[in-house]
Amino acid sequence: MPYYLERNMRTRLRQKYQGPGDHNLSSPKYIIYFWGVLILLVFFPGLSFAGDTKKSVHGNKALLPGGCGSCHKGHGVKGTPMLPAAEKDFCFLCHGSKIKQRAAMKTRKLSQGGVLKDIENDFRKIYHHPIEIQGRHSSKEVLPEQDSSTPRHVSCMDCHNPHRVKKSNITAGVDGARRGVPIKGQFNRHSEADDVEEYEICYKCHSYSANLPADQKNKEEEFNRENLSYHPVEAEGKNRNVPSLIMPLTTSSRIKCSDCHSSDGYNAAKGTHGSVYEHILKKKYVESIRSAENELNYELCYSCHRREYLLRTDGWNHGKHVKMTSCKTCHNSHGSKYNPYLIDFEPTAVFTNSEVKLEFQFVENHITCQLKCHDRDHVLVNSETKVLIPIRTNKK
Ligand code: HEC
Ligand code: HEC
Ligand code: HEC
Ligand code: HEC
Ligand code: HEC
Ligand code: HEC
Ligand code: HEC
Repeated sequence: MPYYLERNMRTRLRQKYQGPGDHNLSSPKYIIYFWGVLILLVFFPGLSFAGDTKKSVHGNKALLPGGCGSCHKGHGVKGTPMLPAAEKDFCFLCHGSKIKQRAAMKTRKLSQGGVLKDIENDFRKIYHHPIEIQGRHSSKEVLPEQDSSTPRHVSCMDCHNPHRVKKSNITAGVDGARRGVPIKGQFNRHSEADDVEEYEICYKCHSYSANLPADQKNKEEEFNRENLSYHPVEAEGKNRNVPSLIMPLTTSSRIKCSDCHSSDGYNAAKGTHGSVYEHILKKKYVESIRSAENELNYELCYSCHRREYLLRTDGWNHGKHVKMTSCKTCHNSHGSKYNPYLIDFEPTAVFTNSEVKLEFQFVENHITCQLKCHDRDHVLVNSETKVLIPIRTNKK
């Protein structure tokens, strides 16, 4: 259904039947209103605010023969808009195990089971978006969170709009948080539904949220286009010379959060759902200061950057360093405000040197690092060549 109508309808439904803070969507009045709307739609498709639902995969009767009734039902479960299961379980009626899919086929809610991927399985993995924390999502909420005491939450509906989802645009019709123009940190709520970029959805909860956990960094700051370097999520990258990139990637490519943060495993469903790797990473990435280099440990990075290239030692000391410590000791996987090459030293591994300096400089194709790492003092000794430890002394 058109975005404004949907929003409008939701607001009216709530204003009419809910007092402030009352989330009982199963109240009799609400049910009457809800079915009133539904019946109107069925008999007068001309009125159709369901037009967009029809364009959605979920509006395809060949797939969901029950139409609206494939999802909405009777009084539904308390606290939901007439859904047959609790928020956290509902989508799995069709996107869960083959057994659940067959049950949905029996009741003619789904036409062909067994073809949908089991997404519930991904959410059972140790690192997952915590959709099991229920009752906090509301279609009325304003994100990023302004109040630090509000508990954090996430639900399928924060990232997918069940009425609008399309195969070609899985996040169609979802609100995003765009960088506000006048005051940094103020977002405009996105009103044009279809063209929200994936990262804008993530920014709703991982940027300026007042309740951002202490161990997380503001992603909008890390990916900010004004930074000296960043992985090209918001815009093309700043470095025009990244020879390690694996085709078809080039320095003009853009990547998505979900290229790195996705369910792991061959043939897993796409999406930032759940993974056996920490931080919901799609592939393995070890972060410890003293970690051994091999193809698997940095599999995530090596899926886009040629390993052989990064291990080179000819005139470029990168290879030597990669053998000693994790990429994370030197690189921020998102972006770096003050340094090129995503250089953002890990504070628990890299310290000031005997000259009380902790600096990374890039001067005329020379790299200088003045710092202390693995008990080695890196100091500037030769002011002419500017370097003691040349990481790369000639442009490739
Ligand atoms: C794929 C399942 C699915 C289908 C099909 C579906 N809905 Fe929904 N509907 C939902 C879910 C899930 C929500 C709750 C959304 C939320 O909480 O953000 C919802 C919410 C609603 C609401 C309440 C709005 C609100 O957010 O409180 C109305 C009204 C509604 N649907 C009407 C319809 C109509 C009419 C149709 C058929 C044209 C339809 N739905 C088809 C899943 C579905
Ligand atoms: C009644 C069964 C049913 C329910 C309930 C249901 N879906 Fe779907 N969903 C489908 C079918 C069928 C498709 C089309 C899959 C295909 O063609 O591969 C689909 C497609 C999708 C897609 C598009 C990606 C794709 O594989 O095509 C997303 C995203 C999605 N559903 C999310 C949800 C979410 C979120 C919910 C819960 C709010 C939900 N679905 C509830 C049946 C359902
Ligand atoms: C509605 C809020 C919400 C949205 C939208 C959201 N997340 Fe999250 N995310 C959470 C919550 C809640 C957690 C659990 C930890 C926490 O509180 O941050 C989490 C955890 C994560 C983690 C693990 C964090 C860690 O410390 O290891 C990653 C990675 C992540 N999200 C990435 C994403 C990406 C990528 C997107 C966009 C595709 C996204 N999130 C969208 C709420 C959200
Ligand atoms: C190139 C791969 C890559 C991309 C793209 C990427 N991430 Fe990450 N992300 C990582 C890695 C690796 C880690 C864990 C190690 C670290 O913190 O460096 C991580 C950690 C995180 C964490 C938990 C720790 C923290 O820093 O807060 C969150 C949350 C997160 N990412 C969200 C996002 C969001 C949101 C996006 C898109 C806007 C995104 N990431 C894009 C690779 C990536
Ligand atoms: C999905 C593909 C993808 C993955 C995974 C990926 N990268 Fe990148 N990376 C890129 C692209 C594309 C660029 C080019 C950006 C540019 O031109 O500025 C890039 C550039 C870089 C740069 C140079 C940036 C600059 O501005 O000079 C570094 C350093 C880097 N990546 C490190 C990493 C590390 C470390 C990992 C693993 C945590 C990683 N990358 C994972 C795609 C990826
Ligand atoms: C934090 C955001 C987030 C949450 C929460 C989330 N998803 Fe997704 N989902 C994504 C992203 C991102 C994609 C991949 C989009 C793409 O590839 O363009 C995706 C993809 C999907 C797909 C398509 C998979 C494929 O391989 O084609 C389905 C189906 C889906 N999600 C269903 C769900 C269901 C059901 C839930 C809740 C149980 C859920 N998602 C929760 C972000 C999320
Ligand atoms: C000791 C610090 C350090 C470690 C550890 C390290 N790097 Fe680097 N990396 C650098 C510096 C400094 C540069 C930029 C200078 C240069 O190109 O000579 C760089 C450049 C890069 C580039 C850009 C190269 C290109 O294609 O032009 C990529 C990609 C990269 N590193 C990825 C990685 C990955 C992946 C790892 C882990 C497997 C890693 N780095 C480990 C310091 C490090």
